[in-house]
Amino acid sequence: MDDTLKKRIEELKHLRNAVIVAHNYQLPEIQDLADFTGDSLELSMKAASLDCEVLVFCGVRFMAETAKILSPSKTVLFPVPEAGCPMADMITREELVAFKQEHPGAIAVCYVNSTADVKAECDITVTSANAARIVSALPPDREILFLPDKHLGAYVQSKTGRKMTLWPGYCPTHARITPKDIRRLREAYPDAVVLVHPECPMDTIAEADEVLSTGGMCTYVRTSKARRFIIATESGILHRLKKENPAAEYIPISPQPICPNMKRIHLEDVLRSLERMEYPIQIPEGVRQRAELPLRRMLAGRIE
Ligand code: 13P
Ligand code: SF4
Repeated sequence: MDDTLKKRIEELKHLRNAVIVAHNYQLPEIQDLADFTGDSLELSMKAASLDCEVLVFCGVRFMAETAKILSPSKTVLFPVPEAGCPMADMITREELVAFKQEHPGAIAVCYVNSTADVKAECDITVTSANAARIVSALPPDREILFLPDKHLGAYVQSKTGRKMTLWPGYCPTHARITPKDIRRLREAYPDAVVLVHPECPMDTIAEADEVLSTGGMCTYVRTSKARRFIIATESGILHRLKKENPAAEYIPISPQPICPNMKRIHLEDVLRSLERMEYPIQIPEGVRQRAELPLRRMLAGRIE
């Protein structure tokens, strides 16, 4: 069954001149199908550089929107339109405008986990892979607003020493990972290296050996001499880690954190998406242009 589906997807991919990309939290069969798998920063860069007519984006909505903002001439297909990110929906454009009005002159730094409308109102975007580097390069005399993730914001503050005003958003999946979950596993596996995603709360981050984006975790494991890793992030990453480094042992945080929105796209959805060209991401051109600037600044690594 799966083989027939995959064969048909391959045929349509060639017919449409399409490329399939997937986030590291996607279902294993989607990751295996994709031409490219990565974290938010890697997928943004890929979207900007790929030479194809159609991009099938397997992830959550803000990621597909980011691809469209950076590659307006491509058709970006998002197979399951309901797959959103609850954190991205924790701030609206109107709320950001009011936040900025309360802090005139401040730089608005926006996590890529945000809607196109919100990106259009901010000065620069960041991902979990580059947030500390980008914030530390901001002009030292300016106030900084950070949104929507208060946990990533708190971590960036602690790394850079830059005081920021944080919007109170958070990722419900990572918010559930507690320091106790990590301590329990560390006791059972004292030789393991603890990798924690910066969307976790600060008291959980305090238990980490390394704080990394999902792409950063893959690179770390590939280049590390350690053979055992405690993985404190959404469990979809385990598939890629095992596939790329099968000799290492991975201990998932228990109970395993799962983002339901990241599990909504199945092979059948990708096939339907390519057959019917569903669902193209559409962003009003004015919004797209304004949202492109902060993304381009991020890719350049600085605000000017
Ligand atoms: P990264 O893959 O960029 O680390 O982000 C994690 C995430 O929550 C994406 O929604
Ligand atoms: Fe959003 Fe968290 Fe799911 Fe990532 S893991 S898509 S931040 S809810």
